[in-house]
Order: sequence, then structure tokens, then C-alpha cells
Amino acid sequence: MSTYPPSSIALPTDPHSFASRSPVRAKHLALALAVDFDSHTLSGSATWQLAEPGAATEVVFDTRDLTIESVEALDAYGAATAANFTLDSVADPVLGQALSVALTPAMTAVRIHYRTSPTAAALQWLAPEQTAGTQPFLFTQSQAILARTWLPCQDSPGIRFTYEATVRVPAHLLALMSAENPQQLRASGEYRFRMTEPIPAYLMALAVGDLAFEPLSHRTGIYAEPATLPTATHEFADLEKMVAAAEELYGPYRWERYDLLVLPPSFPFGGMENPRLTFVTPTILAGDRSLTSLVAHELAHSWSGNLVTNATWNDFWLNEGFTVYFERRIMEHLYGAEYADMLQVLGRAALHHTIEEIGVASPDTHLHLALAGRDPDEGLTEIAYEKGCALLLTLESLVGRPRLDVFIKEYFARFSFQAMDTATFLHYLRAELLDHEPGLEGNLNLAAWVDGPGLPSNAPPVSSRRFDAVDQSLIQLQGGAAPAALLPSTADWSSHEWVHFLHGLPATLSAEQLAALDAAFHFTASGNSEILAAWFPHTLRAGYAAAGPALEKFLLHVGRRKFLVPLYRALLATPDGRSRARAIYAKARPNYHSVATGTIDALLSEQA
Ligand code: BES
Ligand code: ZN
Repeated sequence: MSTYPPSSIALPTDPHSFASRSPVRAKHLALALAVDFDSHTLSGSATWQLAEPGAATEVVFDTRDLTIESVEALDAYGAATAANFTLDSVADPVLGQALSVALTPAMTAVRIHYRTSPTAAALQWLAPEQTAGTQPFLFTQSQAILARTWLPCQDSPGIRFTYEATVRVPAHLLALMSAENPQQLRASGEYRFRMTEPIPAYLMALAVGDLAFEPLSHRTGIYAEPATLPTATHEFADLEKMVAAAEELYGPYRWERYDLLVLPPSFPFGGMENPRLTFVTPTILAGDRSLTSLVAHELAHSWSGNLVTNATWNDFWLNEGFTVYFERRIMEHLYGAEYADMLQVLGRAALHHTIEEIGVASPDTHLHLALAGRDPDEGLTEIAYEKGCALLLTLESLVGRPRLDVFIKEYFARFSFQAMDTATFLHYLRAELLDHEPGLEGNLNLAAWVDGPGLPSNAPPVSSRRFDAVDQSLIQLQGGAAPAALLPSTADWSSHEWVHFLHGLPATLSAEQLAALDAAFHFTASGNSEILAAWFPHTLRAGYAAAGPALEKFLLHVGRRKFLVPLYRALLATPDGRSRARAIYAKARPNYHSVATGTIDALLSEQA
């Protein structure tokens, strides 16, 4: 193991949590909740066991939009007495309200009786029409700081706890959490959960719906609505191979089972790494397994993020940058370097696009972010993901893969179930790797990466042989070749090649030219969400009206913010764009999660 000095790491305080200043930490949660689909509320209690309360006189929790009904303090025997508590009188729109509970000597736990608001930001309540079946559906999205909208908690990624939960749901519905999960319906509608590994609050998750389970291996399986389950089990057939590849790379999987939950299409993200149960969007069900790198990504978080966790959202790149690098190593392991190269090139292109958008000199392009006083959601850009990954690629190019792999594996082992901030990581990196070889630190130039803007010039270039062939086709097209003339060479293209092709199409194509492309390649009729998302902006720019109905259907059906934002932007840029965008949004908005409506509300009002 490493020579790095153990423990006693002084972590920074978290600017996004009132509880990170609490004199006492909560170490175990017993949650008891009833799920009410009529009133769109969760109600019940959260009982928090305190770690060494000693002589402390209060414990602080984060809340947002919660109704706190009463609070009790419990002694070591479980005897309860009413406790005094205060809730901040003014709510911060992003952070919510601190809940401070007065402690008296000998009290070792507090029980908070509460209910959620029907507009709780973490929760999306779906009507049956918004699902693939005939029952309502509920899911949570807690990252980054929305856990506090569905349970009072110490909502800082540096604070970990174990939990147990009892959740009561209507009969015929299955409840699932980021915990040990049931595989079958229980007639009583009461489900019990246990998470025995300590996790931060942003990994708390709950989903309730008409769900069925299909095992894939002894430790992997799929939950989905019954109508979606067969498609999903086909799409994710390689799940066990992915877990095995990840373990081979960076050490044992520490969470026992790895299951996927395929959500209805309004899920605002591609995926969310809830421990034991990754949540994924159904928009990766392409039929040809072409979008499964997203699953590799969420799986990789079982190490980078869920084992070693960013201490604050300023350190978000430690979660996502490592995860993107790890994701591509898993894909390379399973499908070869040529496959992973395509992902690297698409990722790098997205990074350049983002840097241009944010502004090359903006501090928001630094890996180490300064999000205090802002919504941590603002840190959710390609910088953390792709600049973070590019730093690891730079390290790989300097020390070689074998040494980097030993370093990463030891890093995960050494800091398992702990938080990591940027300064501590840099210290560890120097001690373990950079200091061992003269000149390495200078060649890497960490300051430029971590506290400097844009993409440092020592980032290794990425390239893809398969994309070179796509570029040849684009040149032929530019030279006047008819789209149909490209057909023989495009026959074995994956969706990645098509996305690269669509990104490479000139922005000057006319509606007629798009019609010819569509006739040859059937983009508008594609069942692949990434292809559609890359195609629609061209159709809007050129006024290719034949794609209109498909675009509208997509916007009404899909709630994934990564797709919605560029599409609404592209709509707004067309002549009648604002009224059209607003008309579609008025119909689509009820199907979007608050995470997406927050962004799109702002986008549409900017243009007013
Ligand atoms: N943990 C993130 C999603 C997230 C980050 C939600 C921050 C809220 C705040 C997840 O692992 C993720 O990165 N999802 C990506 C997919 C990935 C392949 C880049 C997404 O949803 O697009
Ligand atoms: Zn991620």
C-alpha cells in the first residue's frame, strides 16, 4: 500500500451544506416513509444516529421545502423525548434551510417527523401516461444537493452514513432504493431496505413503479417497466462482463450487486450512479448496444465517486474526470482500442465546444471550481468530465499505463469510503508518482490543469482510425458526391460514426441537401437518440420541415437535459423559433423533471 500519511486529512468546509458546520455528524439513518401518489408527498420520519455527540449542544441538518412536524431526541435505549429545534426563518433558494436540533446530555439519536412538498425538486411524480404502462411512477434525483428536498440530512458529499428504510407504497407497485433491493412485489406494499456501506446523501435514491426484474448474472440484473424489460435485457447483455472488466482494472467491486433501473424517458440525466442500482435513461435503448458506454460510466462511479468521493462540488472533477477515463478503459477492454478512440474523439470535441461556450478565459474552465454562493449545478459541464479525463490521459502519456494503473488502483483502495478534495489529491499524486521522477512535475504542469483555463497544451491529441474513414466520406460529400454514393462505406458504421458524421456536416446545407441525406440514411426515422440529437439542429437551421414532427415527438417524450438544451437553443435560433419553442415547451414541460425545467425556463425567458 501507499506511503502516504494516513487519516488526519483536514477537508475544506462545504459551501453547499449548512450541516458541514455541524458540531456532530449523523452516521446511520433509519428512514420510515409512506409514498402518497394522490398528494405527491412523502411523509414519515428520519431517525439519525449521531457519531460521538459528547458535550455538543446541537446537531445541524440540511432541508429544503420540507415541513418539519416534530423532532424527538432518543437516548441509547431508544427512549424518546420531544426536542427543541429551529429552522432558518429565511430559505436560501439553492441551499434551503438549516435545521438545528438542540441536544441534551445522553441523547444519541434524533427523530425528525416530516413531509415533503409536492414540488420537491428531487422528486418526479409521473402520471401513468408518462410511463410505458398503466401505473404512476416516482423517482428521485438527489445529486448534487437535492437529497435535502426529500429527507432532512447532512447533505454534503464529505459526510457518509449507512441506512435502513421502510417504505410503504400502493399495492402492485415495487419500491427500489440505492440499497439491498427486493426482486419481487410484496402484497403488503411495504418494503425494507438496508445499505450497510457508508454513502453520502447525494447517493440516496428511491424509485416506485410498476417494475419487474430480470437477472443477467449472479450479481447483475435489470429492473424496468414490464414493457421495457425485454429490450433492456437485450441491450445490457454485457453487464457482467463490464463489472468483471472494471474489477480487473482497478480492484474488487465493493457493493455486492450491480443492477440497473431503466426509468421512464423523463429522467433528466443519462445515468445516475446510485449505489447497487444505477438509474439510466431509456434513450440508450438503441437496439444495437451502441450506447452502453453510459453504463460503463455509471459502473465506474462505483469506484470513482462512490468509494472515493469528491469532498465538495468544487472537486467534482475528481468524480467525473476519473470516471470518464475509467469508462473508456472498460470499453477498450471489452470492445478494443478503436472503439474507445471514437469515444475519446467525441469527448474531446465536446470539450472544445464547451470551452468555446463558457469562454476560454473563464475560471469555470478550471478543474478546481469556485462554486460557493452558486448552484453546484453550474459546475456540471464537460470541464469536469473531459478536461478531467484529459489530465489522466496526459499522466498516462508521461508515466505509461502500467504505472498509472497501479497508482489509480492504490488510490481507490487507500481512500475507499472517504472524501477527497483537490489539494489532498494533488499532494497524494506528488507523493506517489510525480516526486519519484525528476522533470515529471514540470512536464505535467498541474497548475495549468487545475487552476488554469482552457485545455493545457500538453494534453495528448486524440484520434480515431474509424473516424478518419468518416472524414473521407465528408470530403466526398463536400466534393459533390451524392449521399447515396457513400452507402457502401457507411454500411458498418456504428452510431458513433454517424454522430461524428453529423457533427462534421457543414452548417450551410440547404433543406434539399438535407432531404437527400435523409433519403439515403433515414436520420429522421432513426431510433437512436444520439443520432437524432445530432441531426435535428441541422434540420432546424436549414428549415427542413419534414423533420418537424419527429423533433416535436422527441421533445415531448424525452426529458434528458443534455438533449433538450441544445435542441431548444437551436429552435430559438430559427425565425419563428421563440413562439414554436414556447408552444412545444408548454406541452412538454409537465413531462420534464425540475432539473430540466430549471434550465429551460431560464433559457426561454432569456430570449423574452
Ligand atoms: N453523476 C452524474 C450525473 C449528475 C452529475 C447528476 C451532477 C447531477 C449532478 C452521472 O454519472 C453522469 O455523469 N451522467 C451523464 C452520463 C455520462 C455518460 C457522461 C449524463 O447523465 O449525461
Ligand atoms: Zn458521471
